[in-house]
Amino acid sequence: MMNRTLVKHVLDSEEEMPDVLIQGWVRTRRDSKAFSFLEVNDGSSVASLQVVADEGIPGYERIGEMATGSAVSIRGALVAGQGRQRWELRAASLELVGAVPDSYPLQKKGHTPEFLRSIAHLRPRTNLFGAVFRMRSRLAFAIHRFFQERDFSWVSTPIITASDCEGAGEMFRVTTLDVGDATSRDASRDFFGKAAYLTVSGQLEGEAFACALSNIYTFGPTFRAENSNTTRHAAEFWMVEPEMAFCDLYGDMDMAEEFVRFLVGDALANSAEEVEFLTRFVDKGLRERLEHVKETPFVRCSYTEAVDILLKSGKTFDYPVSWGINLQSEHERFLTEEHFKCPVIVYNYPKEIKPFYMRLNEDGKTVTAMDVLVPGIGEIVGGSQREERLDILEENMRSMGMNAEAYRWYADLRRYGTVPHAGFGAGFERLLMFVTGVTNIRDVLPFARTPRNCEF
Ligand code: 4AD
Ligand code: MG
Repeated sequence: MMNRTLVKHVLDSEEEMPDVLIQGWVRTRRDSKAFSFLEVNDGSSVASLQVVADEGIPGYERIGEMATGSAVSIRGALVAGQGRQRWELRAASLELVGAVPDSYPLQKKGHTPEFLRSIAHLRPRTNLFGAVFRMRSRLAFAIHRFFQERDFSWVSTPIITASDCEGAGEMFRVTTLDVGDATSRDASRDFFGKAAYLTVSGQLEGEAFACALSNIYTFGPTFRAENSNTTRHAAEFWMVEPEMAFCDLYGDMDMAEEFVRFLVGDALANSAEEVEFLTRFVDKGLRERLEHVKETPFVRCSYTEAVDILLKSGKTFDYPVSWGINLQSEHERFLTEEHFKCPVIVYNYPKEIKPFYMRLNEDGKTVTAMDVLVPGIGEIVGGSQREERLDILEENMRSMGMNAEAYRWYADLRRYGTVPHAGFGAGFERLLMFVTGVTNIRDVLPFARTPRNCEF
């Protein structure tokens, strides 16, 4: 059997190809008297290949069934295109692989995002979602490349865990299924008699590995049981969490900035076709913004300075600003979109609004937290230097009412050869929203899990 060539490679060809096999799905078909035009897409590129099929070639008798959405296999010669396209395929034979009934939901007309979300199993066949999900795959690869090139080891932290890293109580509990009575709360049906949850973050386990291998990163699914119906929260999302031994807050901010700008550069270099498409159809300012972010250092601004800027802005916010509040989306947007007009790293937040593991500053009021905020989205990265002093860590756990025994292993990292260390978590979907210009997290997740959304 002849090997298939992907449409992307056919379209990139430097020369004519006398005999090539392409396989994909029909986007459109137009029939003339003695021949037909087909646009065939195989998901390797935004572009479809134009195919010209003359009446009488083998397989032509089923041309009428090669409707939008049908699967086809076509052999032919790649020749110079007659229209806008550089190349077109002169079919020598056609085969209908899988037909479609009239009920195929993806017709040529535009569809609303809501409708496309309801057919998450078919939407990757559209140009928009094809572009987004190819970029998702490349972004994941770029993340591994970024860290591997810098001697970080990838650690797979557990998905089932007993720790609540963020201390926010937003965890999904794991239970075993008991047919007949799946709702009662019997501890023996938890994780072999012990309470267990889906992880909200791999950080704590990541710290254990950083305190051994020096530089590590996690990259995997994380879960939050927060009932947030926003365009940037999902119940299941992926997080990248580097952790670095012998590193402080400033090294952490440098790494976060280098990381985000590297990924933006990778999108421009390796997904140029997709970025061009998304700039045309989704966000006119996308390419220019990415170029700017790639070239321009991020602004750094302490939490106290940020509150000052917000107070002096003269703007009335829905959520009133005062020192000590958690910055809300409207505040983050003001800072990145109106005040600085670029990504901003805000650092040294009040200790009261942050988790137990962040390192206390000399002032006794703030901790070495940092968030990377970007225009259009807000927070895409959150991190900190960790509290490496055993006595202060234990005091934090006490004052927050945590079960110190359950976190004894974590305190051990401070008991045995403790070192300053720092890390951050970057939301993979938020990074993807940033590089694609897509404004709803549901549209960068293959099968989004958001409150009341688990149909697939
Ligand atoms: O700021 P967060 O909650 O930080 C942590 O979990 C730390 N343990 C990370 C660390 O220091 N290793 O989450 C980190 C990032 C956020 O900045 C955001 O990009 C993303 O994870 N994120 C979400 N993305 C989608 N849906 C949600 N519900 C998210 N919650 C957080
Ligand atoms: Mg955060």
